[in-house]
Amino acid sequence: MTQLIPLISQEEIKTQVKEAGRKISIDYKDKKLVLAGVLKGAFVFLADLTREITIDHEIDLIGVSSYSGTSSTGEITFTKKPDIDLEGKDVLLVEDIVDTGNTLAALMDHINTLNPASVKICSLIDKHERRETEIDVTYSCFTLEQGFIVGYGLDYNELYRNLPAIFDLKL
Ligand code: IMP
Ligand code: MG
Repeated sequence: MTQLIPLISQEEIKTQVKEAGRKISIDYKDKKLVLAGVLKGAFVFLADLTREITIDHEIDLIGVSSYSGTSSTGEITFTKKPDIDLEGKDVLLVEDIVDTGNTLAALMDHINTLNPASVKICSLIDKHERRETEIDVTYSCFTLEQGFIVGYGLDYNELYRNLPAIFDLKL
């Protein structure tokens, strides 16, 4: 029987997203910030984060096909390329969760070939258990040692993205 155990409340999420938005607004003052959300998991986080950022910024969405290699170079397939020309922009990749780190490492390598002014990562959750690629998560709202979580955009087989809080999934 599938069990959903409450892990992070709506209130805790709101507090941490607000704090991330505050820090980003300070760090990117006078920069050309582009929030680039990684589909699909980041859509809820992105929608809340953008509204906590008080400086001007652009928004884009990037889709990357699931990636299972261990190398951080090359092999990446876009299901949705960025629309905005990222050259000279300060790109902040917005993710739901960093797990192995492989997807974001490959995505960062690719974005770097587009000559942005900078590329950094903002992830709702930084999960440590299965990290394979060394990656610098500059902004994260929560860290998680282990487990599989759903809600607030995070899915299990495309379900549970709609849950307003975050739950531990026990199958
Ligand atoms: P990775 O860092 O390349 O392993 O890929 C991370 C992606 O795997 C995330 O963007 C999620 O889509 C998915 N993922 C990893 N851990 C979880 C989890 O606990 N719940 C839901 N999705 C997860
Ligand atoms: Mg994702």
